[in-house]
Amino acid sequence: MKRTKIILEENDIPRQWYNIMADMPTLPKPPLHPATHKPVGPDDLAAIFPMALIEQEVSQERWITIPKEVLDVYTLWRPSPLYRAHRLEKALGTPAKIYYKYEGVSPSGSHKTNTSIPQAFYNKQAGIRRIATETGAGQWGAAISLAGVFFGIEVTVYMVRVSYNQKPYRRISMETWGASVHPSPSNLTNSGRAILDKDPDSPGSLGIAISEAVEDAATHKDTNYALGSVLNHVLLHQTVIGLELKKQFEIAGDYPDIVIACCGGGSNLGGVSFPFLYDKIHGKQLRVIAVEPESCPTLTKGEFRYDFGDTAGLTPLLMMYTLGHDFVPPGIHAGGLRYHADSSLVSQLTHDGLIEARAYHQTEVFTAALLFAKSEGIIPAPESSHAIKCAIDEALLAKEEGKERTIVFNLSGHGYLDLTAYSDFIDGKIIDCAYPADKIKDALLRLPTIG
Ligand SMILES: Cc1ncc(COP(=O)(O)O)c(C=O)c1O
Repeated sequence: MKRTKIILEENDIPRQWYNIMADMPTLPKPPLHPATHKPVGPDDLAAIFPMALIEQEVSQERWITIPKEVLDVYTLWRPSPLYRAHRLEKALGTPAKIYYKYEGVSPSGSHKTNTSIPQAFYNKQAGIRRIATETGAGQWGAAISLAGVFFGIEVTVYMVRVSYNQKPYRRISMETWGASVHPSPSNLTNSGRAILDKDPDSPGSLGIAISEAVEDAATHKDTNYALGSVLNHVLLHQTVIGLELKKQFEIAGDYPDIVIACCGGGSNLGGVSFPFLYDKIHGKQLRVIAVEPESCPTLTKGEFRYDFGDTAGLTPLLMMYTLGHDFVPPGIHAGGLRYHADSSLVSQLTHDGLIEARAYHQTEVFTAALLFAKSEGIIPAPESSHAIKCAIDEALLAKEEGKERTIVFNLSGHGYLDLTAYSDFIDGKIIDCAYPADKIKDALLRLPTIG
């Protein structure tokens, strides 16, 4: 019988996260204060983050110990399985070996719990009563709501309005775990009201929702802010994915030629690929591919420079690939990929040629998702389906070239709460949003000038 799943024991859950900052050829430029444009210090961040996370944000230690309380919760779904996609390989008639690491087994359905659990734990340890956050498609909001209820912290979620309307079941999951959820832009914050004054029908964006959550946290002493992607500590927590994957490849007696992940802010990409980039930096041959939507093409068409992480300009300036902080991407179904920029770590590694990037339109992504669902069974999240499309293309290229190649992608989440998107696709209602070149050009004009 062919082996399909490579499953680790609970004892194999990594005890430490891997910090790529210890090994990067070039470290990202430091975050700058939004008003003074001087590097931010720990005190600037202490109003909205616990010190333990601030320390992780700047740490250059290669290994950071995972607290026991976090490991205890990780055992609910970790280690996650690695699958060999025999049936997809057969459907494609490819000589390539395709594997996928499945993060949809977490209770909230995606990789986001790998970081929501430690973030809630460190906030609780610091005596915080409430967390304010944003969410796109709702995967992050669901993950932090679950973490909040596990550690006894209230959670307020600003959910991008287009997703709030498209994905009611995610909102209901968050509410089931006890969170309050508001469509963003909302009337609850100055940032939200300013947007609604200009555009009462604004579909919202991650940048706007971040402004609302940061403002909420900064104006309430007992409240901190939590971010589901982009920041160094978030990518650090996600490295449990790649560390487990390396062990699973050892068991399989294989090693990837190509590691693929979709990229919104970069956290599942960083999580799955950084432990392999350690090998690449130390001379091993392999490719890492970040996959993004054509309608929000940050790595493929953005500019590498300082920009705000949010629309209102409340966050520190980060050095990253950006389309402009006030760019509002079209309301595609992969809501988690509608972010105007990328993590500084992923941006720097892309700039240095260690990560490649590519973009796809949403209909070709859904076509790939259906082929995957029909051959492997799992209905994937629209975000993760970007990685599937890329893996399929690479497997077909291997077929054309007559090469055996080992391809792995991160299946960052399941799509069982995204079924409206599938229904729309099957009914022919999903169209490709043209690449919004003019809107992006315009948003880039408003990037801050750093002296
Ligand atoms: C299933 C899934 N995959 C990927 C992403 C993109 O985020 P990141 O690039 O941080 O992994 C999201 C974001 O919400 C998501 O829900």
